[in-house]
Amino acid sequence: MTEFSLRGDQPTQNIFSNNAIGPAPVLRAKQGEPFHVRLENKLPEATTIHWHGLRLPNAMDGVPFLTQPYVYENETFDYIFTPPDAGTFWYHPHCNTLEQMSYGLTGLLIVDEKDGPDFDADISLNLRDWRLGSDGQFINLYKARKSARAGTFGTVKTANWSENPTYEVPSGGLIRLRAAVTDVTRIFKLLTKGAKATIIALDGYPVPKHFDLDHQAVGPGQRIDLAIRMPDEEGKEVQLINASSSKSWTVATFKTKGTSLKRDIRDLKPLPNNPVPIPDLENAEYIPFEFTATAESAPKNGFCGTIGFSFWAINRKSWLGVSPDPMEPLADLKLGKSYIFSFRNRTPHTHPIHLHGLSFTLLNSNKRKIDPFITDTALVLPDERMDVAFVADNPRDWLLHCHIIEHQKTGMSSFIRIS
Ligand code: C2O
Ligand code: CU
Repeated sequence: MTEFSLRGDQPTQNIFSNNAIGPAPVLRAKQGEPFHVRLENKLPEATTIHWHGLRLPNAMDGVPFLTQPYVYENETFDYIFTPPDAGTFWYHPHCNTLEQMSYGLTGLLIVDEKDGPDFDADISLNLRDWRLGSDGQFINLYKARKSARAGTFGTVKTANWSENPTYEVPSGGLIRLRAAVTDVTRIFKLLTKGAKATIIALDGYPVPKHFDLDHQAVGPGQRIDLAIRMPDEEGKEVQLINASSSKSWTVATFKTKGTSLKRDIRDLKPLPNNPVPIPDLENAEYIPFEFTATAESAPKNGFCGTIGFSFWAINRKSWLGVSPDPMEPLADLKLGKSYIFSFRNRTPHTHPIHLHGLSFTLLNSNKRKIDPFITDTALVLPDERMDVAFVADNPRDWLLHCHIIEHQKTGMSSFIRIS
């Protein structure tokens, strides 16, 4: 635990961090090379680390009971895996998740391409809010009536634990901007001012075709990689803006420095594709998942820091959290077979639906035209039906849940089994 000034001069007490002091470190791994992180738990409670978006062996997935035991105070756990994919990923606990993430435990993990494009700067942004009062101290992390709707929003909005930080970057340079929404609730709508930004990857995966950033929705758990050609003149500012609510605000600012590097965005070679297997759609099995509200909302006891209500369900089952005796998997999949999951949102809210351990391709929607992006977290709109496909090539149990953590913790959580 640490303290850090998040609002005003008064340091916020009792922040949880993955660092001795200040924000969680940006971890860097190399595609196809072994990566090792030792978790040393200095918190007064159990924790784990989940590596969001990584296709890794089940034992490294960080879900208590389902994939590993709790890591109690003063215990250690070695996470060792070889990331098959390059891109922008992140990490967070999967235990008492609402509290531990809200108190600070969210960080980025970047897996570098073996042979990536040539940028003049590579900047990571950890986008998240904090629930702080005017004295800069934590207030109640959620309001139950909000958990039953879009979730409870934070009061202080930060990038890398600062409100609108400014980064100096080379004039006329090509910069890579990686943003991860590690917030427990907020869905961002991102745009830039001062220069055009090009989307080169979403959720760690190169997009099939580059396109311009224009109010791109990025929900909890999701990531976006942008390429920006900075203005030639020194001292010019480019702002990354969030316009998801009626009042938009600047998330971060990039200021040019030095004489122009005169780069040309057309020189940027595309990111190499990740080796995700291609599903066999002809022979894929089709499995519907219905995301609904529950009728019942009485307080319930759960495990692993559930918040004690059940407001949401997947296929009519509310799972309040990971428990030593979990319910049965919602679906049994055969190792190596292709599947189409049909995510059906029967609620008036948007849900970022995240599947652990696998990446899937977006196929179609009943509401909009979607490109065949590969992702681990699909933003499913109100009343949307979105079909996604993947090859079930990673054995064992994998969580499927909404990444609005209050939704996850009040029932919109489940798991599938691959064997
Ligand atoms: Cu970031 Cu269970 O997920
Ligand atoms: Cu949700």
